[in-house]
Amino acid sequence: MLDKLHQKALEAQENSYSPYSKFRVGSAIQFKGLSEIFTGCNIENASFGGTVCAERVAILKGISEHKKQTIESVVVVTDSPEGDPPCGLCLQTISEFSDADTKIHIANKNEILRTYTQKELLPISFKLEN
Ligand code: THU
Repeated sequence: MLDKLHQKALEAQENSYSPYSKFRVGSAIQFKGLSEIFTGCNIENASFGGTVCAERVAILKGISEHKKQTIESVVVVTDSPEGDPPCGLCLQTISEFSDADTKIHIANKNEILRTYTQKELLPISFKLEN
């Protein structure tokens, strides 16, 4: 299943719209108990603050189609041979839909290089009581 997520993240990376940074990112996520895979690429904007990261595109697609879900795995792929972790804003978004088992996999084009729990990458996330 991780191979499939990696493949889907690579396919999404092909759609990256990143004319300003030239930094191409692809992501694929799977929610617990759902077989469907959701993908995203980074989508930049001339008004730079309008840029959306690949991971958040994938998560927002999934949540908007299936209501709140718990993320099982997130794969993020870039062109860097050593891979790149999600940014802080994406980690905060991932944390909103995570549990203790949620995994973040960092990949290059060939393979998944490192795997972390969400908590390892953002041990203390901002929360509001609801
Ligand atoms: N980017 C992502 O897609 N995900 C991240 O976690 C970090 C950054 C994108 C945003 C922007 O299009 C480019 O990478 C450079 O910051």
